[in-house]
Amino acid sequence: MFEHDTEIVNRSGNRPFEEVLRTRLSRRGALRGMTLSAAGFAMAFAGNKAMATVSNEVATRGVGSTQLAQAGGLMGFTPVSIADYAASSNGGKEPVIAEDYEYQVLIPWGTPLDPNGPIAEYTGDPNTRPSSADQAEMIGIGHDGMWLFPMGNANDHGVLCINHEFGRNSHVLGKNAPETLEDVRLSQHAHGVTVVEIIEISGKWQPVTSNKSRRVHVNTPVAFSGPVAGSPLLDNPAGNTPQGTVNNCSNGYTPWGTYLTCEENFNGYFGATEGRESFQGTDSDGNVVGPDTRTEEQLRYGFDFDGFGYGWEKFDPRFDMSNPDYVNEQNRFGWVVEIDPMDGTQTPVKRTALGRFKHEGVAVTVGAGGRVVCYMGDDQRFDYIYKFVSAGNWRGLMRRGIHPLDRGKLYVAKFNDNGTGNWLELTIRNPALAARFSDQAEVLTYARIAADILGATPMDRPEWTTAGPDGYIYCTLTNNSQRSTDPASAVIRNGVNIALPDAANPEAPNNDGYIIRWKDSRNYTGNTFVWDLPIKAIDTRGTESVFTDPDGLWADPDGRLFIETDGGQPDSLNNQMLVADASTLEIKRLLVGVNSDEITGLTVTPDRQTLFCNTQHPGNGNPASTNFPAPTDGVTIPRDCTFVITRKGGGIVGS
Ligand code: FEO
Ligand code: CA
Ligand code: CA
Ligand code: CA
Repeated sequence: MFEHDTEIVNRSGNRPFEEVLRTRLSRRGALRGMTLSAAGFAMAFAGNKAMATVSNEVATRGVGSTQLAQAGGLMGFTPVSIADYAASSNGGKEPVIAEDYEYQVLIPWGTPLDPNGPIAEYTGDPNTRPSSADQAEMIGIGHDGMWLFPMGNANDHGVLCINHEFGRNSHVLGKNAPETLEDVRLSQHAHGVTVVEIIEISGKWQPVTSNKSRRVHVNTPVAFSGPVAGSPLLDNPAGNTPQGTVNNCSNGYTPWGTYLTCEENFNGYFGATEGRESFQGTDSDGNVVGPDTRTEEQLRYGFDFDGFGYGWEKFDPRFDMSNPDYVNEQNRFGWVVEIDPMDGTQTPVKRTALGRFKHEGVAVTVGAGGRVVCYMGDDQRFDYIYKFVSAGNWRGLMRRGIHPLDRGKLYVAKFNDNGTGNWLELTIRNPALAARFSDQAEVLTYARIAADILGATPMDRPEWTTAGPDGYIYCTLTNNSQRSTDPASAVIRNGVNIALPDAANPEAPNNDGYIIRWKDSRNYTGNTFVWDLPIKAIDTRGTESVFTDPDGLWADPDGRLFIETDGGQPDSLNNQMLVADASTLEIKRLLVGVNSDEITGLTVTPDRQTLFCNTQHPGNGNPASTNFPAPTDGVTIPRDCTFVITRKGGGIVGS
């Protein structure tokens, strides 16, 4: 778990999701009523238009439902039991997969992009690190969201785009703080994205020499497009051209075959070399105490003069908030970035129409009139869920030379007590926003503040979104430990403690998380929706499918939900991947990771017989915790890597 996700910077006083839910639950009279059966769900929303058929263009991959029928329903496999894991994991040093499945390890941190390139295996002297130049030709650290772009429709060959969310200095540098610019560059080159062509040869997946393979990291040239491009908000007095992407968390992919990488906790990479003496910090309620030179915008996006401790600002002025020559560098991060996986020379493009916030991921689908629709979570306690709808049919826009992600409307979600919701447009044409902002570029750059003004619903840390085959969008709300029965730890807004539980909603704190789903009117493009909570993780306590802290999420075209966790798991389990039947809500455990890791990232081959997912920060880099993926030797530093998962004897993964 990345602890910086848990800070609170939303002081809007907007009515939070917990309160909406509490009211709704009390109206329904029973907590359990929220966990509706499929039939109950259909009845509850009988007034909604018939289930939209999901656009095949993006929401589905591969084969149709004819391969659906397997003994045991959607998930025929024997799950990993709690006892299996305890018996087979070597004290959590090794992953455990369901007995009907097997995995191989692909592209650990330090793997050469080109098979003939530099390699770092982190064996022997644990303090030995590669040069920054070598790291720029290797797989990065912090494997997270990813997508496989197949060659044609090949099931054994494709280009994998994979995010490298973060890597602690102690892990990447072997020390807590950089001492030179070279140290900073090494850290920067371990972040970003990898594009790597991979092929399965004799049953083993591996990188191949390719002009498509490349690293996109913190110093890679990038471009801006959409309404904020050309705005002075992106200009620095230094005149430096835009470079880099950072804290790339989850992802999306477009109907036109490109990869979308999402910048999440970008604020943590900035610090200040001067002015720190005037910063007094924050009190237990998160209120700033004493003089503070930060702007309202910096506070709302969680900037701190210490950052997350990366120390880049000490040697790289771009990340020094106190350097007036780079005053707007921070506005260049917090975007969704488009990468062409098939063109190794393409300049990644930041698509500003999708707004600037802590982007977890983006689920892209196609709605009414061929409009492209993007659903996005902003992962922070009490932050929001957004959607973007393109101005027209995406193919038509492209024919006119307009990029579909550059022209459209951005909305933020408001959840109502009665199971309905509204999408509120973030537009400068709204007088309430025109009173605060000078133009649409400013609205998008400070989307969080615009959403505060509109009255969006503060959520319990929205992580991944995915478009289900049933027309619903599913989203993980990973947890919100700020709810408490202890008034001393209350969260006060406008004089009201929004953290206290009530009889209808007894979880306090909400440590376990939910999966919420909603269905929009007008085939994804409308301004209203209906919503419900099909899965509450606390309901799995005491069962064999127990899990908490759902984070990664992907719906396959048959209605399986792949759920990945990031947080301390009950019953001595490590983080895990489970498969749920979205109709019956049956849940089975497919994989359990190693000590201190999280399981994240999901993609499949076109036939869905191969699934890729990641272990991120295994052992938190500590060889005493695990050496995975190296055999247990107590020395080799554990490394983030990808699992390639197949069903023994073949079959759709999850079946
Ligand atoms: Fe990058 Fe919110 O996980
Ligand atoms: Ca993470
Ligand atoms: Ca996440
Ligand atoms: Ca998380």
